Amino acid sequence: MANQIAGLSLETNRDWLDLASEYSLRTWAKHPIVLERAKGCKIWDVEGKEYLDMMSGQLCVSVGHGHPRLLEAINQQARRIMQTGSAFSAPEEIALAKRLADLAPGDLQKSFFGCSGSESNETAMRIARFVTGRQEMAALADSYHGLTFGAWSVTGRGYRSNHPEYGLGMPGVTFLPTPNPYRCLFCRGQGACDLTCFQYSQDLMDKTTTGQPAAIIIEPLLGGPIVVPSREYMQELRRFCTERDILLIADEALTGLGRTGKWFASEHFDIVPDIMTLSKSLGGAVPLSATIVTGAIAEKLESGSYYQSSSHTGDPFLCGVGLANLDIIEEEGLVENAERMGAYFKSGLEELRNQYEIVGDVRGLGLLLGLEIVRDKESAEPAIDLMQHIEDYCLDRGLILFTTEGTPIIRLAPPLVITRAEIDTALSIMEEAIRSAAEGGGG
Ligand SMILES: Cc1ncc(COP(=O)(O)O)c(C=O)c1O
Repeated sequence: MANQIAGLSLETNRDWLDLASEYSLRTWAKHPIVLERAKGCKIWDVEGKEYLDMMSGQLCVSVGHGHPRLLEAINQQARRIMQTGSAFSAPEEIALAKRLADLAPGDLQKSFFGCSGSESNETAMRIARFVTGRQEMAALADSYHGLTFGAWSVTGRGYRSNHPEYGLGMPGVTFLPTPNPYRCLFCRGQGACDLTCFQYSQDLMDKTTTGQPAAIIIEPLLGGPIVVPSREYMQELRRFCTERDILLIADEALTGLGRTGKWFASEHFDIVPDIMTLSKSLGGAVPLSATIVTGAIAEKLESGSYYQSSSHTGDPFLCGVGLANLDIIEEEGLVENAERMGAYFKSGLEELRNQYEIVGDVRGLGLLLGLEIVRDKESAEPAIDLMQHIEDYCLDRGLILFTTEGTPIIRLAPPLVITRAEIDTALSIMEEAIRSAAEGGGG
């Protein structure tokens, strides 16, 4: 089928990748396959080989690829109206904003729509500066908030040391230690977070900043290393922000809308952020993001004539598809499925950890899970070569894992419609791959 595209008669993955090397700017490490079609949790490459998708596209298609109701909504909305321009409102935009206010915790109420996670975080920080009149930001050292300038500036994994060519980010950003019990410099091996990292963060802010940044931005479950902060950490963070009048921004790009077994990961910790950002799975497959603020923040923005717009802000096409996507998540019980299937998947991964010395840790919530591949449990030395072997092995056997170059973490974030049978298939391919790596395949 792919060989029909734009009159190009190419047959194999290799043919397409050769053409890509001439015309596509390479900015990211790519797998050696070219994908052509998808359905549910399955994807096929241009040679017709089938794969199980453990990353939901780029974490966007949580209702599964090609969901019939989403396709129908795309079709109908495209025929009705796609764009209005920022100076007009459309029913879909208003209805989606109301729907998010109904779903979101606490007093999060008014939404601004954009097209990407980066854009939603730029907006959140712009709002935080406007509302507080302050400029500093704080973020976690292992965070990822996007690659546009502001979002990159608060991204700990921003490739600063290995790519100094990117230059300096936004001034006034302080990075705080990540509350990751497996690697924490303060409490590793103690079995639980004792909040020393939080006390250190506070001390750091007091000594090196005004002590009152405009906002602290966090992922309630850090999607790069798959770190789940402790409930105590998150509650302490919320308390600290309230006490100092610092806005707490929860970036729920990966974790929002059911992925962790609750509508929002913030709910696992019983915290309500002042600003929440959503993207990825919000549009189901179309580029849609939201920055949701409390009624009190909205009032300050509106009374202060806060100005923001972009070409696709609140497009009825994007918002109409987003609404249909939320209907599917709700009516098909996908939040509950994420919780149930996530628990099943995690227990299978824990068995692998118990069985294999190179699986150092298993963590995550719902269907956002991770394995850390190490040389051995005792040293916990990251084993990137072994991780790479596992990833390549799985791809060869038809399993697409979610990894990031240069880290020992394997992430698992399949569509929320995944079944037990599909999880069993994934686990059995992973076990073969891990066994092969443990037997020396990574060397
Ligand atoms: C937590 C988080 N925030 C923001 C982003 C950036 O989103 P986008 O790539 O849509 O700009 C990502 C992307 O992976 C993310 O994981």
